[in-house]
Amino acid sequence: MMCSLKSSILALVFVQTLLSSSSATSETLDKTFKQCLNQNSKLHIPFSDTFFTPENPSFTSVLNSTIMNFRYLLPSVQKPVIIFTPLQETHIQAAVTCSKQLGIHLRIRSGGHDYEGVSYASEIDHPFIIIDLAKLRNITIDIEDETAWVEAGATVGEFYYRISEKSRVHGFPAGMYNSVGMGGHITGGAYGSLLRKFGLGADNAIDARIIDVNGRVLDRKSMGEDLFWAIRGGGGGSFGIIIAWKLKLVRVPPIVTYLMIKKTMEEDDIKVLNKWQHVCDKFDDNLLIKVTMSATDPDEIGIRCATIHYQGLFLGKTSRLLQIMGRKFPELGVSRKDCLETTWIESTLYMGGYPYGTSLDILLQAKANFRSYFKAKSDFVRKPIPVTAITGLWKRLKQDNGAVIIFTPYGGMMNRISDTAIPFPHRKGTMYMIQYVSSWKDGKKSENLHMNWVRKLYKFMKPYVSKKPRTAYANYRDFDLGMNEKGNTSFKTASFWGYKYFKGNFKRLVKIKTVIDPGNFFRHEQSIPVLGIEPGNFFRHEQSIPVLGIEPGNFFRHERSIPVLAV
Ligand SMILES: Cc1cc2nc3c(=O)[nH]c(=O)nc-3n(C[C@H](O)[C@H](O)[C@H](O)COP(=O)(O)OP(=O)(O)OC[C@H]3O[C@@H](n4cnc5c(N)ncnc54)[C@H](O)[C@@H]3O)c2cc1C
Ligand SMILES: *[C@@H]1O[C@H](CO)[C@@H](O)[C@H](O)[C@H]1NC(C)=O
Ligand SMILES: *[C@@H]1O[C@H](CO)[C@@H](O)[C@H](O)[C@H]1NC(C)=O
Ligand SMILES: *[C@@H]1O[C@H](CO)[C@@H](O)[C@H](O)[C@H]1NC(C)=O
Repeated sequence: MMCSLKSSILALVFVQTLLSSSSATSETLDKTFKQCLNQNSKLHIPFSDTFFTPENPSFTSVLNSTIMNFRYLLPSVQKPVIIFTPLQETHIQAAVTCSKQLGIHLRIRSGGHDYEGVSYASEIDHPFIIIDLAKLRNITIDIEDETAWVEAGATVGEFYYRISEKSRVHGFPAGMYNSVGMGGHITGGAYGSLLRKFGLGADNAIDARIIDVNGRVLDRKSMGEDLFWAIRGGGGGSFGIIIAWKLKLVRVPPIVTYLMIKKTMEEDDIKVLNKWQHVCDKFDDNLLIKVTMSATDPDEIGIRCATIHYQGLFLGKTSRLLQIMGRKFPELGVSRKDCLETTWIESTLYMGGYPYGTSLDILLQAKANFRSYFKAKSDFVRKPIPVTAITGLWKRLKQDNGAVIIFTPYGGMMNRISDTAIPFPHRKGTMYMIQYVSSWKDGKKSENLHMNWVRKLYKFMKPYVSKKPRTAYANYRDFDLGMNEKGNTSFKTASFWGYKYFKGNFKRLVKIKTVIDPGNFFRHEQSIPVLGIEPGNFFRHEQSIPVLGIEPGNFFRHERSIPVLAV
């Protein structure tokens, strides 16, 4: 054991005493934390580059560096007491040990794209530290083995770029936006243009390195299949800190076709969209066509229009795509001029919204394009929605000047992977996913307007989408679906969103969480709860081991003799 139960409880009391008085105490906390890190890290920590407190002039820019949702940077939102940007695994191990010892909550940030800011903000009234993995972004590609090790802080774009440096005929089926962080992304599923052919990023994860609640580094073998199952889709921040994923690369043809058709939404276009929803999940696996509706030209003339983009990736040549479209979806009216033969790597730029001719270097810049104040929600559709609902969406779209509605087709490989293979359960029978987004630039000022718009739209769609439960995508985190109360998790409360994100897999996630983190150290507003009132009791009962304090997992682990990789 790294620290005795007694000393951690004492430390907790010590910190709580410290935190309840003046600003000098926060300095004391920094010092205590630094000392603890020094004692627990095997390698030197250059604090000037890795340790930021609110007094540090760089604090706000480091905090702001990768976040997507400015709502969680508003002055009213609780800020971390420390941001720590480790350079080595051992630094992270030390940070876990010290957060636990000092009773400070911890948030894990990889790419900062969490929709509800869970990786950098906390609604729980308790001091917290951010462990920001931005400096752990090595990517090692092994083309012969067709695998890659990707550190959590690397972005999707960097990963794609590094693959393309080594091969024109390999790719990976993850997200469409290059600034998303690989660490958080895979923990929730990770879908993109290759989803109909190869499934999710998480379906193609074959190993991982993770730091557990006891600061140990585990890989797939030493963590066991239960935990390895849970981290591939069970959501970030509940089970440990992923340091790196080992991912299976997939084969793509040297030439692919990117398709783009833009329409101003008129009466006829409703018919086309209606046809899309009947065919989108039934196309050849090599074809994915997503649809984006957005409000345009908002404030200036007072008349709002809606545009609709059909963007497609076809893993093959244009001539073949035109044949398919002619046979299956002539209503869209695709012709050769709407198609571009290109490489898979270039197609990732276009599917992500960059214009033709954008340099691939942009993938290495980890620059986010959509930074704003936003609120989003998601739905899965299992039978075609009526035309009246499409008309309703279109009407509502024009009422909000930051509105975007995105439709992503399923089917193909998604139908062939079982609902329980990984925690992500939205498989066979799901025709497509819808995402409703509203974003704005003026902070609190128009917040209510936009939030209400999204919520009303969500209500409107209820009759037309998945039911019992109405499901949602875990990576599009939505606090409206419920939150753990003040950081205390209960199975009952968490069931509200748990079943929506994970369906029946939620129960298995809770069981695994209860075994591997019975003290509920890795927790946030929507973390997986621990069973029972006293953490650990459920599984401990036969051995009658009483549970006390913050670090009850050790005995259990010892009995199971899970080997430790590198402590
Ligand atoms: C502009 C934009 C575009 C997007 N596009 C797509 C898309 O095409 N496809 C798709 O599937 N999703 C997409 N997403 C959603 C995205 O997958 C999730 O927001 C994802 O969780 C982001 O990962 P991150 O590392 O960037 O985020 P973070 O905010 O760093 O983390 C997200 C969550 O995971 C936890 N976490 C982070 N790092 C780790 C770690 N190393 N170990 C354990 N837990 C961790 C955090 O605590 C937090 O709960 C998009 C999001 C945005 C904002
Ligand atoms: C965060 O960064 C963006 C630019 O990238 C800037 O517009 C915004 O004002 C910053 N926010 C804060 C609080 O510093
Ligand atoms: C990342 O890669 C570089 C260069 O290959 C290496 O020097 C460095 O040690 C690596 N970092 C980690 C944390 O593995
Ligand atoms: C949560 O736990 C804290 C401390 O353990 C306790 O003081 C608080 O009342 C709990 N809140 C709820 C809602 O149960």
